[in-house]
Amino acid sequence: MHEISFQAVNDRPTPYPPVAALGKSVAHFARPSGPNLLRRTDRLFQWVESRRQANVWPYVRSLDSAPAATAAIRYEAGDPGGGINLASQDYLGLSSHPQVHAAAIESVARFGVHSAGSGVLLGNTSISLELERSIAETLHVPHALLFPTGWAAGYGAVVALVRPDDHIVMDELAHACLQSGAQASTRNVVRVRHLDTEAFRAAIQRIRAADARNGILVITEGVFSMDADSPDIRSLQAICREYDATLLVDIAHDFGALGPGGTGQIGIQGMLGEVDLVMGSFSKTFASNGGFVAVRTPEVKQFMQIYAGSWMFSNALSPVQAATVLEALRIVRSPEGGILRHQLQAASLAIRDEFGRGGIHCLGEPTAIVPTPVGAEAIGRIASWLVFRKGALVNLAEFPVVPVGASRFRIQMMAAHTEAQARTGARLVMEALAEAREMAERHRSHVNLARGSESVADTPA
Ligand SMILES: Cc1ncc(COP(=O)(O)O)c(C=O)c1O
Repeated sequence: MHEISFQAVNDRPTPYPPVAALGKSVAHFARPSGPNLLRRTDRLFQWVESRRQANVWPYVRSLDSAPAATAAIRYEAGDPGGGINLASQDYLGLSSHPQVHAAAIESVARFGVHSAGSGVLLGNTSISLELERSIAETLHVPHALLFPTGWAAGYGAVVALVRPDDHIVMDELAHACLQSGAQASTRNVVRVRHLDTEAFRAAIQRIRAADARNGILVITEGVFSMDADSPDIRSLQAICREYDATLLVDIAHDFGALGPGGTGQIGIQGMLGEVDLVMGSFSKTFASNGGFVAVRTPEVKQFMQIYAGSWMFSNALSPVQAATVLEALRIVRSPEGGILRHQLQAASLAIRDEFGRGGIHCLGEPTAIVPTPVGAEAIGRIASWLVFRKGALVNLAEFPVVPVGASRFRIQMMAAHTEAQARTGARLVMEALAEAREMAERHRSHVNLARGSESVADTPA
């Protein structure tokens, strides 16, 4: 792996961003009106453009190197940047692993680069079938079904099973693919306070008392992607059994990266083979695109193949993706996987410790995700600009991905981060935050104006 060189730029003059760029959120523009569907996209564009001009639109940047512990990037306008990469989902660094590369290359030689059909029409290969078996075996269930993405898996699992008279009880912070699946399936959706097991019980009990005839799908995640915390899966599954409800757990962020043999929170909580439905994504630890749903009976798998539109009517995972994930899974389950998870945990603990020394308490538990509270969107947007220029690549999460006024840096650690990189990364983030706060203090009336325009943004996109 070659070393990435990058230049930290600390000394650029900082014209203070205008109110228009510091206030509002995408939620303000989510329900445009007017007869012309295309012209009514203008207002969002103007707002994003004002943010772009002021350098406070920290999105749609691209990599100029592998997503490794340090990386080179291009800003949206094309100018180069780079630094310590705290924004990679390649948690164990398997996208750069020589064995994974060799498996990918071998699959190309044998199958070409394309899956030439949906899974229902000759889109599968011997590699993808082996991957299904291997995922099922890892999670101690008999069956798994691959999807083209994790999003397609989550959405597909919900729409395949739930009909308009059924009910969904979901953690309020469940991922967008599950929220969209719920929205598309039934109007009977109850969003329960984050991680509140008793609130889940109360909602399920109330629904079952009123409706003994229809199904209840209960949805949560192994590790929540913006909060790095986990539900009590054992209790939720027990409640589901008591009321004939069905539990679906999304393990996108913990599968491979956490727990015994990489089995995530399900493994940690001793629930392997016990959860009704488990879905996951390959876009984090498994170095590829794709997703899966793991199920306990052939009937459920068959049903999903027919009624999950995102399986039936979408091309299957390509052979190179399947081979990549299969090899990544082999490493995840091997002693090397254990060492990499240990290194990842050490990096997560080091960056959390450094933030703690600076008085910042990161949210959640030590996992690959290290949510670092910022607060006001205006501060987050300015700090985000500063931190990239200082040489740390960090994603800003703002409303509606997180609540209004609770913006945060969603830091993602990798096994390859050294302790020095983790600590330097934290220091650069804290420096950027301190400078952003100081700028905001000097322009207090300005920031208050922006905050005023923020508070009207209570309509999620
Ligand atoms: C919790 C969770 N579920 C599902 C997904 C979707 O996965 P994919 O990127 O494979 O579409 C993501 C990715 O953002 C996620 O964070």
